[in-house]
Amino acid sequence: MTAATPETVEAVQPAPPHPDGTPDTATQDQVVTPWEVKGAEVDGKLAAIDYNKLVESFGTRLIDEALLERLEKLTGQKPHRFLRRGMFFSHRDLTVLLDRYEQGKPFYLYTGRGPSSGSMHVGHAVPFIFCKWLQDVFQVPLVIQLTDDEKFLFKQELKIADVEKFTRENARDIMAFGFDPEKTFIFSNLEYMNAAFYKNVVKISKTITTSVSKATFGFVDSDNVGKIGFVSVQAAPAFSNTFPQIFGPKGDVPCLIPCAIDQDPYFRLTRDVATKLKYPKPALLHSKFFPALQGPGTKMSASDVNSAIYLHDTPNQIKKKVNTKAFSGGRDNVEEHKKYGGNCDVDVSFQYLRFFLEDDEELGDIRKRYTSGDLLTGHLKQRCIEVVSEMVKEFQERRKAVTDETYKNFMNPDFPRKVSMKPPSATNTKPEVKK
Ligand code: TYM
Repeated sequence: MTAATPETVEAVQPAPPHPDGTPDTATQDQVVTPWEVKGAEVDGKLAAIDYNKLVESFGTRLIDEALLERLEKLTGQKPHRFLRRGMFFSHRDLTVLLDRYEQGKPFYLYTGRGPSSGSMHVGHAVPFIFCKWLQDVFQVPLVIQLTDDEKFLFKQELKIADVEKFTRENARDIMAFGFDPEKTFIFSNLEYMNAAFYKNVVKISKTITTSVSKATFGFVDSDNVGKIGFVSVQAAPAFSNTFPQIFGPKGDVPCLIPCAIDQDPYFRLTRDVATKLKYPKPALLHSKFFPALQGPGTKMSASDVNSAIYLHDTPNQIKKKVNTKAFSGGRDNVEEHKKYGGNCDVDVSFQYLRFFLEDDEELGDIRKRYTSGDLLTGHLKQRCIEVVSEMVKEFQERRKAVTDETYKNFMNPDFPRKVSMKPPSATNTKPEVKK
């Protein structure tokens, strides 16, 4: 079990130096916040994100083999490829949640999206694909927060009408990941904020000082006050009595939050607040970043068109982006590539295949052949284009099938949801899981 730690205090400390006392420049230079993701700068170049160092400085736990085996035993399902391949690599208190699950006690999933653009990108698919799998294997309710208020507060150029429009579009994108409407509630903060939600927001706000918010997120005095208090709005859905219509009024059902590790600062504070308000602490599962087209030193971002493949791109757009922009780990010419081989760890096309190619054997074979120089960059890119285009095509077909009726049901707080709070471990039924 993870020990209870004063996490806010840890969160604002710089990473410790190397044991030999030399300053750890790489960790100091690496930036991972909800707004910026940048690897350390080495010789003027961005290095790949060092996730082990992040685990150390954020104070989270690595997901190890023993935890994967436990998950498999408990759910009766082979771990999702994101887990098998270490894409979801870190957690907070997952073991505590699994202890509860074993005892037949309920939990729910909570995740979200900040609607900053009309279309989400393929990296955004990662937490939603994973949540769909978790919902299927654990048969649990899921709440999805759309932080239109956050985007309005943080992006000076956006008007309320813009974020409302992005919310409607993004909500439909999210619905296309195939969640069960009878177990899933998707809400926009600007639209849904009601008495139960707001009561938690003010209770949370009262426990977080301005200086803690500034130290955690790096705010300065010229930032608007909405930004400083926004953490309370993102924290509230982690407490179950924000949704009394689903979980009852007590606030005693814990949640599991799958997200990329950039969102962790919000939830470090949320976990501190939970202790103060006597709510269960949320557990977390963190993913690595789906890299930008330019390379593994930064994340794909919807607001940087050069970095992103969007979920609404055409096959031709995907082909052109991968062929012309995707950073290659190959050598300068075919002769050298054949002689020395390529580097899969920095090759963006290979990294995209790690996220989306289901077949472990084929992926292993590609790694072997690219590393030895047998497989050329052009062929690797071709396979990447096929796999990403197929994923996007299937997404777009499901997106077309999202009707106004589907939209209304997911977004309706009072939609009759079948949220039996008894997990299958208590009833000995094995869920059916679609890939
Ligand atoms: P946002 O819109 O920046 O991102 C939505 C979700 O996608 C993850 N993500 C990525 N994952 C992998 N690779 C990437 N390149 C990548 N870019 C983004 C994010 O970590 C996030 O999980 N403030 C939040 C919205 C939010 C939220 C939450 C997120 C509200 N409540 C609870 C997670 C959990 C935001 O702006 O996310």
